[in-house]
Amino acid sequence: MIKGKSLYLRPVEQCDLAFMQELANDAQISGAVVGWDFPVSSLDQQRWLESMSGNVRTRRLTVVDSQSHEPIGLTGLWDIDWHNQSALTATKLHPARLQKGMGTEAILLTMAWSFYVVGLRRLHGSILDFNGPSLGAYVKKCGWRIEGREAESVFRKGRWCDLYRVAALKKDFDALDVAQEYVGLVCPTVVDDVVTPEPSWWRNHS
Ligand SMILES: CC(C)(COP(=O)(O)OP(=O)(O)OC[C@H]1O[C@@H](n2cnc3c(N)ncnc32)[C@H](O)[C@@H]1OP(=O)(O)O)[C@@H](O)C(=O)NCCC(=O)NCCS
Repeated sequence: MIKGKSLYLRPVEQCDLAFMQELANDAQISGAVVGWDFPVSSLDQQRWLESMSGNVRTRRLTVVDSQSHEPIGLTGLWDIDWHNQSALTATKLHPARLQKGMGTEAILLTMAWSFYVVGLRRLHGSILDFNGPSLGAYVKKCGWRIEGREAESVFRKGRWCDLYRVAALKKDFDALDVAQEYVGLVCPTVVDDVVTPEPSWWRNHS
């Protein structure tokens, strides 16, 4: 479990499936995110969960409210490129369960975990040109940079929308005022107090 302050991240469980189906089929959310799909059935949702097993390039995480322990959304890492230490990430929170600031907290937790636990050095994503809360959370509050803009790339509400390509390096995260607080949350074990073993503690096994 990846513990934050008002929320935590944990693997997606069977008991989350009804909520995940609601999240996928919510018209407000599906209209704001980049990927598009036909409405998802409970069988599709079950297969989605089963498809995750053993997939080393994708880790989906349920975002859970720390007080109620109810799921509020989904985040994670997709297309993990172990050689280049990078991955795609995204965050989807249900508007009916969302409190202000939870998006920023979920993104900062995912960044701290990715850079200090998983061992990545670059995260990337895409944001539609009208998605103010997403640009606000990722770029304004979490240190992400806009790297490019794809003109008229995505069809939404009958119009062609531009797509911002966004990314954050580990050093962008480290420059945030809250970085060390989040590193402490995802890595609570103290590793600075290095122990020097006495010579007598060494055993010769030859
Ligand atoms: C995107 C999402 C995760 C953000 O979560 P959130 O809890 O709303 O975000 P936060 O409140 O932490 O931060 C958003 C910031 O953007 C600002 N913002 C909102 N609308 C904005 C706009 N139109 N223009 C500029 N800034 C805006 C907010 O004021 C806030 O900044 P502040 O705290 O300084 O006031 C959440 O809204 C969500 O899941 N939306 C639906 C799915 C989605 O769009 N996912 C992103 C796909 S890329």
